[in-house]
Amino acid sequence: MKFFIDTANLDEIRSAAELGMLDGVTTNPSLIAKIVKDPSNFTRRDFFDHIAAICDLVDGPVSAEVTSLDAASMIKEGEELAAIHDNVTIKCPLTIDGLKAIRHLSEAGRATNATLVFSPSQAILAAKAGASFVSPFVGRLDDISAEGMALVEDIVDIYDNYGYMTEVIVASVRHPQHVVEAARIGADIATIPYSVIRQLAVHPLTESGLKKFMEDAAVMKK
Ligand code: E4P
Repeated sequence: MKFFIDTANLDEIRSAAELGMLDGVTTNPSLIAKIVKDPSNFTRRDFFDHIAAICDLVDGPVSAEVTSLDAASMIKEGEELAAIHDNVTIKCPLTIDGLKAIRHLSEAGRATNATLVFSPSQAILAAKAGASFVSPFVGRLDDISAEGMALVEDIVDIYDNYGYMTEVIVASVRHPQHVVEAARIGADIATIPYSVIRQLAVHPLTESGLKKFMEDAAVMKK
């Protein structure tokens, strides 16, 4: 399973990349807003420069989201985003207009990511539109007492039935168990917040075991 990091924070991306297992990045307007220090001075040029800076750090797909609602504007925006760097993936919401934009952009050879996906029917449409990636949001489903990972299971099954090439990105990941479940189900990718990437490595028995080993090693050094 590939690991993407779900952030626009350059320090987090750099740290995750140093681990040597970072395969891509996903951003969205809310993640971009988090890194903006002075919103009154943050221009579209600044946004493009930030996406370019992310692309310089990671050799893999970098999802940048469109912020318009009609298909024609999404396509125009998507082309602008794609011009930033070869690794940019154009993220479009799973709406009727988003599907039209995905279809158009994918036919033009652009990488696309269908985002805000909450049902198997939406995922079928994303694949039929030719999306490179589909992003089911598991955490937000869990938040409303639905089964986020059940959606991933459905999508993986359906895509396997038809050999759809669209890769499944498990998104809105909240904790390590989401990542483990994603791998168990056979999702292609999990996009993971930096804090959760670090949590994946943590186990109290590793910590206590290491403490004891260090104590015993110190005795041997005497
Ligand atoms: C990824 O593509 C999504 O934008 C992201 O995972 C959403 O996560 P959230 O539900 O924590 O905002």
